[in-house]
Amino acid sequence: MINTEQVKNPAECTAAELAAIFQIDEFEHAARARLDPMAFAYFVGGAGRELTLERNRAAWDALSIWYRVMVDVSRRSTATTLLDLPLSFPLLAAPTALHKMAHPEGELATVRACGEAGIPMVLSSLSTTSVEEVCAAATAPVLFQMYIGPDRGFVRELVNRVERAGCRAIQLTVDAPVWGLREREMRSGFHVPPHLRIVNLERIDPQGATGPTGHTGVGISETLGWTISPNLSWKDLEWLCSLTTLPVIVKGLCRADDALTAVRSGARGIVVSNHGGRQLDGAPSTADALPRIAQAVASRVPVIVDGGIRQGVDILRALALGATAVQIGRPILWGLACAGQPGVKRVIDILASDFDRSMALAGCATVAAVTRDLLRPSEA
Ligand SMILES: Cc1cc2nc3c(=O)[nH]c(=O)nc-3n(C[C@H](O)[C@H](O)[C@H](O)COP(=O)(O)O)c2cc1C
Repeated sequence: MINTEQVKNPAECTAAELAAIFQIDEFEHAARARLDPMAFAYFVGGAGRELTLERNRAAWDALSIWYRVMVDVSRRSTATTLLDLPLSFPLLAAPTALHKMAHPEGELATVRACGEAGIPMVLSSLSTTSVEEVCAAATAPVLFQMYIGPDRGFVRELVNRVERAGCRAIQLTVDAPVWGLREREMRSGFHVPPHLRIVNLERIDPQGATGPTGHTGVGISETLGWTISPNLSWKDLEWLCSLTTLPVIVKGLCRADDALTAVRSGARGIVVSNHGGRQLDGAPSTADALPRIAQAVASRVPVIVDGGIRQGVDILRALALGATAVQIGRPILWGLACAGQPGVKRVIDILASDFDRSMALAGCATVAAVTRDLLRPSEA
């Protein structure tokens, strides 16, 4: 078992063991066996009774696919684009914090695996590797996730830093005016292990000391409460957009009216997300929220969705509901905990081949052929 206080040599899955894993849920089991219980509780948990966490998964499962037959699918392409960025298939690694709590190589292992697979990584602002190091190791686009915290001067500096590092877009997370109450974290005594640093949020002063505040305490509210602010409004989105030429994508919406306001305030993309069921317990599943938002924004900006995507066929379902691409959070962490870069690569490969096979079985030779009627065919 990995001791997250001093991660050194986790007992990693061998190549043969990785090749024998076919389902993301098997990865979760394998990761659980390798992770410190506190780290596993932080990664796996949702808020409250975890209703929304469960709903996310169940809602994708409930969607039947009315496949087409007698379509020539001998030459298929899963490739697509998102804001002009190339994707080998419609998947991004969602922003998740603290990758070094899963594996000593942390975000570097993740970004290298994403590069090998040809998909973008969204780097969390709460990463344990700096944005500069991650971008230097990247061979596919890196997007940067951020919160607007109370120190707006610091936000401005961070935006400049992210631009200089070479990130291709910003995902602004807006579903966290306060942190959800994640009971598993509280029970397991979640804290940031002392050997890890949330490097992007440290401000280096001339003496080399770090700030703006530490990240001590137990539970996410105490530990990371200083990174978010409860007084944001749409004006802050306009302000962020005015600071940068990078596209700003707003992450964490479930309502069509909010999506329209976000677009009017400068958003160049939307992520339908409930933070993987970690914020408001009782929020709708993202599969329920997605079609309303996709219909409202009507192709003006791309719509991404995350939450409970665990199979390639879920990507097909999301595209049929109007998404341009999907993100996965926990599956990446499970792959990382099992075997670092090859583990993340195997997770992505499982989804890529399942998506490709599902496209063929549904009678779709291209991503553009994945249309709404696959879920609701008209009567003949
Ligand atoms: C352990 C963990 C840490 C996360 N950290 C962040 C974060 O730093 N910023 C953010 O916007 N979302 C964060 N999220 C939410 C993810 O970006 C994403 O919305 C969610 O994980 C998708 O659901 P899934 O895990 O079911 O795929 C985190 C999720 C998890 C599980």
